[in-house]
Amino acid sequence: MDLKQSIEKRTSIRNFTDEKIPVHDLKELVRRAGLAPSVNNYQPWKFYAITNKDILSKMAVKVSEKIKQIPSNKSIAAKNVKSQVEWFATFFESAPAVIAMAMEDYESVLEKGVDLSHDEINKMRNFPDMQSAGAAIQNLLLSAVDLGYGACWLSAPMIAKESLEEIIKIEKTYHLIAFVAVGKAVRDLQPKTKKSIDEIFKLID
Ligand SMILES: Cc1cc2nc3c(=O)[nH]c(=O)nc-3n(C[C@H](O)[C@H](O)[C@H](O)COP(=O)(O)O)c2cc1C
Repeated sequence: MDLKQSIEKRTSIRNFTDEKIPVHDLKELVRRAGLAPSVNNYQPWKFYAITNKDILSKMAVKVSEKIKQIPSNKSIAAKNVKSQVEWFATFFESAPAVIAMAMEDYESVLEKGVDLSHDEINKMRNFPDMQSAGAAIQNLLLSAVDLGYGACWLSAPMIAKESLEEIIKIEKTYHLIAFVAVGKAVRDLQPKTKKSIDEIFKLID
């Protein structure tokens, strides 16, 4: 599939068949994610592909527990909102694979020579760590389409970050950034309507 087709076909997939993903495909998805640009080419990421159903359900339980602990407001919608959010944060347990992305702090050139902390510099540069993560995750999502899979980016489960890091056994200097759930889509979905080019483009000539 060419790049334009992959971009235009991609949409978030949350319902998967039980078909397993061969390890060589998981590795290929991660290889392509790793080709993304990153701040100072630091490539601060590591990807953990989780296919074990018991581990995935353990992870989902931790996420559900955390969501249940969020204090609700008094609105009538409160209960529905929470159960909806819970589903969007835990559906990954039914995916054939979840690719968890973790990152370590990058070393910025500036912090070697100025009296500013890593966090201050990161904020000043508008979080290049997270920008790098986004580039890699998008590579992964588009590659999933290219290889005939569906995928969905998830940040909601990060509510249970510490527990998830323990379950996945994320290396000490790394911290979890996001999940990508991957598998064969139960059915092909139409990509969502997006803003028109006129709404999002401005030429500064
Ligand atoms: C940073 C980020 C975090 C997201 N987190 C979640 C999530 O936790 N759960 C979920 O179901 N979808 C999540 N999504 C998917 C978005 O809901 C989805 O991209 C959006 O609705 C647009 O739909 P599309 O991907 O089909 O174009 C996330 C997307 C991004 C970019």
